[in-house]
Amino acid sequence: MAVSPTRADLTGYIPASLADGARRVVETPDLEEKILVAHATARAWFGRGLSLRRRTGATPMPDQPGRPAAPVLLPPREMPRRAVGGTAGRVALLHSLAHIELNAVDLTWDMVGRFAHLQLPRSFFEDWVRVGLEEAKHFSLLRHRLAALDSFYGALPAHHGLWEAAESAGDDLAGRLAVIPLVLEARGLDISPPMIEKARAVGDEDTAAILEIIYRDEKRHVAFGAKWFRFLCDRERTDPEARFQDLVRRHFRGGLKPPFNDRARSEAGLTPGFYRPLVRLIG
Ligand SMILES: [Fe+2]
Ligand SMILES: [Fe+2]
Repeated sequence: MAVSPTRADLTGYIPASLADGARRVVETPDLEEKILVAHATARAWFGRGLSLRRRTGATPMPDQPGRPAAPVLLPPREMPRRAVGGTAGRVALLHSLAHIELNAVDLTWDMVGRFAHLQLPRSFFEDWVRVGLEEAKHFSLLRHRLAALDSFYGALPAHHGLWEAAESAGDDLAGRLAVIPLVLEARGLDISPPMIEKARAVGDEDTAAILEIIYRDEKRHVAFGAKWFRFLCDRERTDPEARFQDLVRRHFRGGLKPPFNDRARSEAGLTPGFYRPLVRLIG
């Protein structure tokens, strides 16, 4: 059996296929290696030097992503309080965002590897490899911001909710797109503008600038989600809105929470007819 190269000899690393590179991103617990392998795999893929999958046999994806010993994972209700005001609250906010972005790295590369055996246009994988690189960039930006505030990723506890949200959809690509880009990343579009405003209001320009980059990129991630979700529905001859609502009810606990950023969502192709009927009934 071939031995995986260690981080020290990752220079010039080329995976056996896109799916193999994706698997290694998800499976390694070493954060530097995760990012390096994501870049090396994307480079090889865009350089057209990589096949989508091995000719013989599938590349099974790990059940759980590889993660470092810290942060410890606790239930969501035990998370530290987040705020942009004081340093402790700001560090807690940046730490939770860094954790979300690390999950996004694993989830995106998992999707690339998990669905590499499906008959899909090459542009599907081009879109999501690009997203996988952008999630790695977001994680790195937040990690550096934490360092500038004398903290680090792993200094606080985190939770496992995002990976669990994707698990219910399993190997169903439409379900995966419904829950991850079209529910969770779309939620990011709702909460980002007020977060950016608050960071500016307390004079934290550095954090605001990072959040602006993430917001801009995430609009595209939602747009890719909507585009490929519609593509699958067209192919299955199903109504995208009804299919979306059915999948979200099946795979996502709890309804969707307003207020929605209708404008950014619509620009990404996620029009209110998709999500309005799923608003959680309060009272
Ligand atoms: Fe992101
Ligand atoms: Fe994203």
